[in-house]
Order: sequence, then C-alpha cells, then structure tokens
Amino acid sequence: MEDTLDSKALEAAADCLLRARYVIALTGAGLSVESGIPPFRGPGGLWTKYGEPPMDGYQRFLRDPRKAWEERLNPSGPMRELWATLRAAEPNPGHRALVELEEMGLLKATITQNVDNLHRAAGSIRLLEIHGNATLIRCIQCVTRFARDEIDYGELPPHCPRCGGILKSDTVSFGEPIPADVLEHCSEEAERADCVLVAGTSATVYPAAQFPLSVQGRGGDLIEINPYETEITHLCRHTLRGTSAEILPRLVNVLRERR
Ligand code: APR
Repeated sequence: MEDTLDSKALEAAADCLLRARYVIALTGAGLSVESGIPPFRGPGGLWTKYGEPPMDGYQRFLRDPRKAWEERLNPSGPMRELWATLRAAEPNPGHRALVELEEMGLLKATITQNVDNLHRAAGSIRLLEIHGNATLIRCIQCVTRFARDEIDYGELPPHCPRCGGILKSDTVSFGEPIPADVLEHCSEEAERADCVLVAGTSATVYPAAQFPLSVQGRGGDLIEINPYETEITHLCRHTLRGTSAEILPRLVNVLRERR
C-alpha cells in the first residue's frame, strides 16, 4: 500500500494525544490483518466473501448447545477459515505499538472487538475484550471463564466445573448480550476518556461503536487509523490513512521523540 501519510499529520495526532487527559483505544479486525487474519467487511472481508452470518447465533446455541458445540469443534465455511488463521497468528507491530503507548502511560485502556488473543499475546495489560476471547470458555450461568484446554469435551455440551451451568466459547455470538462485567468496564473507560484512538475498525457494530461517538459527543477527540474511510471518519479530529502495523509504530516514534 503506497505510503501517503505525511509526517505533519502524524505530528498533529501526536500533539493531540499528548494534550489529552485520558486516552483509550478501540480496535477491530484491521489491527490483525497484518497477522494474517482477514477482516469481516470491506476488501478481503470474510462476510464480504461468505455473506453476513445469521444474527441469531446465540438463540441457536441455547436451542441446541450440543449441536453448536459439534459445529464449534468441527467448523466449516467462514468459521473454519477464521479459526485456522487465528491459530497461526502472531502479534504484529501495531499490537506492540499499543503496548508501548500503555507502558508510556499515554494509553489508559484498549477496548478490542477482536477475539484473536493477539493484544494479550503482545503484552497489553489494560485490555477489555468486548467480544470475548477465542482461547477462553465461559459459563453462561456464572460467567466464570476458563482456558480452553482446562475443559473436558468428552461430553457435549461441557458443563461448568463451578456451578454446573452450560459452557460456551467466550466469543460473543451474534444475538448474545455482551457479558455485563466487560461491558460495564468498557463503559467506565469510555466515560473517563477525552480522546480515542480508533484503529482498524469499521465502527459499525454496537455497543462498541457507541464509545467513540459518546467521547466525541462530549467534545473529545477521535484519531482514526484506517486505510479506508469509515462511518465515523467525518467525526475524527485526525485521520491517519494507512495500515495500523505501519502507522502505530510511527506514531510511537514521534511521541518518544517528544518526551
Ligand atoms: N490496518 C488498519 N485497518 C485496516 C487494515 C489494516 N491493515 N485492513 C483493513 N482495515 C480496516 C478496514 O478498512 C475496516 O474499516 O479495518 C476495518 C475492519 O472492519 P470490520 O471488518 O467491520 O471489523 P470490525 O470493525 O472489527 O467488526 C466489528 O463485527 O463481525 C463482527 O464480531 C465481529 O468484532 C467484529 C465486529
């Protein structure tokens, strides 16, 4: 992708971050494209290729959790492709740059829509996985989360070792409410923020897409990092057009020089 980003735009975005009192990030599938995981929408998107999945995934799970687990353990179509790329993926310079912004004390929290565990693997600490984590299993009754390999899949659906409730992947299915614990934490962080780094997301899926709108609505600043225009580009104070793996490390370099 041609490097069209001039250093003035980077410097202006860096100033904006340094002026801010409480910066958070909202990330999406675009963050992991350079890790080999396709986005969902737009060019090369899974849903672009296979069509949007049914919006009642969770209701289907509740109706027949055993069948849902059989499908989960033997995926087909887009889910087969997605899980295969997730297993092979490693964090990229975009993930690592966000860790550095956190270590600098500039980035207070990262809200990710990604279930690929790459922010965690890169070392993000103040991380909120609003759509869950594909390496975790969650009890739909007591909301306890377990590492995938802690669970015995001999009998399907597997049951919670703590409360006996039914277990499902921690990833939030279409039609499933976001677990209250993570949603509350995300809302708290968004309420504190006066600046949001919006990286690699089409900002079309709610409730995650509401956070930058609320911050901007209160007079806060949005900095967008995306090779393409999105639904919220017109609301952004700064737009850095390019890939997150290329732009985020450059932003960190400018900030490092300023400190
Ligand atoms: N670097 C940065 N951004 C990129 C890159 C890249 N290399 N490549 C693509 N993008 C941008 C696209 O232009 C698009 O705006 O990333 C965005 C990806 O958007 P989506 O595919 O819609 O992904 P996301 O916003 O994370 O979707 C939200 O929708 O399907 C559900 O649960 C799924 O969490 C997901 C949610």
